[in-house]
Amino acid sequence: MNGPVPVEVLKQHLIDPEICIRCNTCEETCPIDAITHDENNYVVRADTCNGCMACISPCPTGAIDNWRDVLKAESYSVDAQLTWDELPVQDDALAGQGAIGEAAEGAAAGTTAGDAESAEPAIGGSDLVRGSVVPPWSAAKPYVNLYNHKAPVQATVVGNYRVTDASTESDIHHIVLDFGKQPFPVLEGQSIGIIPPGTTADGRAHHARQYSIASPRDGERAGYNNLALTVKRVTKDHHEQAVGGVCSNYLCDLKKGDVVNVMGPFGSTFLMPNHADSHLLMICTGTGAAPMRAMTEYRRRRRLKGATGKLMLFFGARTQGELPYFGPLLNLPKDFIDTNLAFSRTPGQAKRYVQDAMRERATDVAALLRHEHTYIYVCGLKGMEDGVLQALQAIAGEAGLDWQALWQRMKTEGRLHLETY
Ligand code: A2P
Repeated sequence: MNGPVPVEVLKQHLIDPEICIRCNTCEETCPIDAITHDENNYVVRADTCNGCMACISPCPTGAIDNWRDVLKAESYSVDAQLTWDELPVQDDALAGQGAIGEAAEGAAAGTTAGDAESAEPAIGGSDLVRGSVVPPWSAAKPYVNLYNHKAPVQATVVGNYRVTDASTESDIHHIVLDFGKQPFPVLEGQSIGIIPPGTTADGRAHHARQYSIASPRDGERAGYNNLALTVKRVTKDHHEQAVGGVCSNYLCDLKKGDVVNVMGPFGSTFLMPNHADSHLLMICTGTGAAPMRAMTEYRRRRRLKGATGKLMLFFGARTQGELPYFGPLLNLPKDFIDTNLAFSRTPGQAKRYVQDAMRERATDVAALLRHEHTYIYVCGLKGMEDGVLQALQAIAGEAGLDWQALWQRMKTEGRLHLETY
């Protein structure tokens, strides 16, 4: 009766700590809470992950898409992964033998976990993913991961200005970094990683922090190899407790001529369409304005060359003084961009959020929703995502549009991009 004992080889899902920029996108996306993190690493629970692949596309760096064939009984524990500085090498004897596991087969084949029997293919990778995981069809091809934390590129600070009113608490800076003769090609909607100098309390090098690029592909100053970031100085955590944000304080205090270590660029889906008659519906709060500024400025430069699509912007801040780029934004011609501001803490006025402003402009938003060349971008506070999607649903419903069908279509066509934090 001594038959062979089946040896199970698992294709274990791992996250590369060398590339990961700890942006939390994977943990937020995972529909079954298989991803967790500590202050060091983001990791995948081998006994929970079913390989549904929902997390793969949204990851801006590709760190998420790593796999090792291991004996199931010897799979890497969460505790072990949390200590890693780099991925373990693949054991040659097991290479190519791993299986993701029974629960995952349907998902890996293109259906979401739990609906393996359904004939309907998953939309956008997983119905639990609310935005597009593909770029607009006409987006330019992005470069990603040209530089990592082991081999960052050095950029020189050529400008650092406060872009919120000096009398307000919100200290938001516009920081311009120049790459000189080193290649650093970017597109609007992409982000970069900044590696703050120094170490954590336990002596480890700081991880990079991710910032959206606020300038167009051809430079903050057209024709220059530079880019801008919009950075808010972090002085309080989500519970209003005093904290000093390591990277934001470092960036906001930089002087002209200082040199910064940069990783990236990152991001291959939150990109703008390149066809001239495409419309942009942009919704943001606070520093979420960065990609909208990049896209708007690129369109402004292209408009001179014949771009005709509409631009509609909804921008929320606590007060007028706390809205970054308030002055320059209002200087843009009204026939170029339809700007709608929403302030939540103006003394003597009712609280107003971007979604309230959208409902007030329902007729014009609905007209954009009807148009198959409309692309929606949402960037800013996590909390706004629900509110904005609800507003879109209500506006579509009142206009006689089937929001559920439109939402799915926009997702698969790379026309609904959400980046919230
Ligand atoms: P609030 O006054 O309620 O905080 P911040 O300055 O923190 O980056 O926020 C930018 C703006 O986003 C503020 O006006 C803030 O309002 C607003 N905001 C907060 N929560 C939401 C939400 N759930 N939906 C839309 N806007 C929000």
